[in-house]
Amino acid sequence: MIYKNTLDFARQLDQTDPLRSYRDRFHIPQRNGQALIYLCGNSLGLQPKTARSALDQELTTWQNLGVEGWFDQTEAAEQPWLRYHETCKAALAQLVGAQPSEVCPMNALTVNIHLLLASFYRPTAQKYKILTIKGDFPSDQYALETHVKQHRGLAPADTIIDVAPRPDGTGLIHTTDIQAAIAEHADSLAVIWMSGLNYYTGQVYNMAAIAETARKHCVPIGFDLAHAIGNIPLRLHDWGVDFATWCSYKYLNGGPGAVSGVFVHEKHHDQSLPRLAGWWGYREDKRFEMTSGFLPAPGADGWQVSTPNILALSLHRAAIAIMAEAGIVALRQKSEHLTGYLEWILNQLEEVLILTPDDPNQRGCQLSLLVRKNGKGLFNYLTGQGIIGDWREPDCIRLAPTPLYNTFEDIWRVGEALKAYYASL
Ligand SMILES: Cc1ncc(COP(=O)(O)O)c(C=O)c1O
Repeated sequence: MIYKNTLDFARQLDQTDPLRSYRDRFHIPQRNGQALIYLCGNSLGLQPKTARSALDQELTTWQNLGVEGWFDQTEAAEQPWLRYHETCKAALAQLVGAQPSEVCPMNALTVNIHLLLASFYRPTAQKYKILTIKGDFPSDQYALETHVKQHRGLAPADTIIDVAPRPDGTGLIHTTDIQAAIAEHADSLAVIWMSGLNYYTGQVYNMAAIAETARKHCVPIGFDLAHAIGNIPLRLHDWGVDFATWCSYKYLNGGPGAVSGVFVHEKHHDQSLPRLAGWWGYREDKRFEMTSGFLPAPGADGWQVSTPNILALSLHRAAIAIMAEAGIVALRQKSEHLTGYLEWILNQLEEVLILTPDDPNQRGCQLSLLVRKNGKGLFNYLTGQGIIGDWREPDCIRLAPTPLYNTFEDIWRVGEALKAYYASL
């Protein structure tokens, strides 16, 4: 598309946007009566207007039915809580490209990383190493480090293999380097764990190709999809990914600390994988018999541990229903245009360097800007102008236009604010 740097052009794009009505389904934060330009859905997505009534529904069920809310089949409970998680499965399956039995909303992201590693990281004397990405999110690094330390005789320094960016200053990691590292270390690798989309650079890794290499070398592979889910289309089942987890407070708009979810490929559903269990992962038909001896529920549900937080699930469910209605393919189409427009506007400013790849196949909606000269000053200026991005030390501003509630006019206004800032220096 040929872009133009005018307000009329941006408004024209908004008028012809087939998803434009979705913005009205979210509360856009305001300052002094003016809507903020919220480019921070990569950190905390906005509140859907249906969130309050969804939450209220379950508060009412609790108020009216007490414990009967778990089982009540009458209209007094809109959805009995016992199977409430199942009502999220169709939307989640669509978002990650899975069968409904392969996904389950549960727990929080890092908790799920631990639970899944307990199943998929089974070191032996020969195969004990973990391959990951250098500079992945700290929580992932800490999870790997502490899993290694759980095993007598293993130390993180000899066990964790980090694939690093090439020394070309881009901070990006080449798929072929990851594939080469898998092949090189295949004899000693127990598992591969990495992000699908890098939180800092915004780079999307070629998950299909990496999973294929992992499969060829018989190494289980899992992905942290915190920044990928709801941002880019995923096909975890077809790619043969073994396991994955994500959070739903970013692009899934489930609210601060919202419930996470897991994917476990159906090839692992034969119940033999070891796991850290709790009663909610027990076969549902026998759970209340309260007998000893853990029998996992079939599919991803068998990784549940504790009683689900229904109030949190109600927000999650309401938010992903909007996503499922819009459809990830249409969202992605708009997202590529929004981010392409932002990139085009940023590229006109020589002071700003974009870290994120320029190939749309290698990025989601987020662009990470490297601002070497007084980056924090620029970030504070943008915040003052009502433009909400986020700051990552030492010199990175992340801006993430999200297709559900951002507009092309938002992007144009960011460009104008940046021009004014540099003109004022
Ligand atoms: C890529 C990634 N992994 C893990 C986490 C940690 O998530 P939580 O605090 O929900 O466990 C985050 C949080 O933003 C993240 O972005």
